[in-house]
Amino acid sequence: MTAATAACDAALGGACDAGLIALDPAKMAHGFPAEPFAYRHFLAAHPLLQLDALAALAARMPRDRLEYNSGRLKVDQKPEETPAVDLEPAEIVRQIETAGAWMVLKNVETIPEYGRLVEAVLDEAACASGHRDRKSAGMTEPMGFIFVSSAHSVTPFHLDYEDNLFMHLHGDKAMHVFDNRDRSILDEEELETFPGKHRNHRFEDSFASRERVFAFEAGDGMFLPYTWPHWVETGADWSISMAITWKTPEGLRLNKLYFANAVLRRLGLPQPAPGRSRWLDSAKVALYDVARLPLEPLRRGEAMRRMLRAALFGRAANYYYGKAGKT
Ligand SMILES: [Fe+2]
Repeated sequence: MTAATAACDAALGGACDAGLIALDPAKMAHGFPAEPFAYRHFLAAHPLLQLDALAALAARMPRDRLEYNSGRLKVDQKPEETPAVDLEPAEIVRQIETAGAWMVLKNVETIPEYGRLVEAVLDEAACASGHRDRKSAGMTEPMGFIFVSSAHSVTPFHLDYEDNLFMHLHGDKAMHVFDNRDRSILDEEELETFPGKHRNHRFEDSFASRERVFAFEAGDGMFLPYTWPHWVETGADWSISMAITWKTPEGLRLNKLYFANAVLRRLGLPQPAPGRSRWLDSAKVALYDVARLPLEPLRRGEAMRRMLRAALFGRAANYYYGKAGKT
């Protein structure tokens, strides 16, 4: 048990002693969840996070939970020009030292042993922020994403609609992070999203002076707050990282508003930013909840998810199937 979790444990009756991460409760009290910060973790040698286990995991995951392409991308990579890698997912993991590839295994929490790991990390994080566990801290929709990349790979400029405990496990990596309150970097339209919208955003060289760079070796981690833009590059060795994410009640509400505003913009009705009109925001959230209800059971199967994405947002919304997955 770390000093940080020991202090938590003493305060909270021994519920948070997993010893997976070393979050400093004092730092959490100041920066969490508003600002990014670095921390250390103890997962680099975890058996579920080694290459052989990840190759087996890639072979088990549904195809739309795997995304991969060449790692030789630009920071402002045009999605339609993303070079592919012609290998099966498990082979990419096995050959990552030479494949020149970038891969993410999405929603690994759906595999029970990975789901337990995700839960344990989030319980420990909740403890460090003064809560009994992640549920009492309001951390919902726990998810895990594992990144496997060859040397000198780039993840282009993007943002994610969740809070993220990022942990680096092998090789070296740097994350270039930008303040999400700066609308001269991403404006309101760029914050809007819908399922299947490609995550890459335009990047201008002038942004670089406003970046904060977090450098990682195995055992390093960082907290990345909701929708803070970032791009990532690996160093001279292949790399493995994991992002353990969750949503807050405020993040869930904003996600619904960004989705509703994206749909209305496509219908020629651009909307005020979330927070400008309380009643309008509430109406959009209510409409979103009603519209989503009948779709929820359909989304459980991969084929139906793919069809719904294409029907609602066009064929390009299934971009990550790549060459091998195109029909
Ligand atoms: Fe990201």
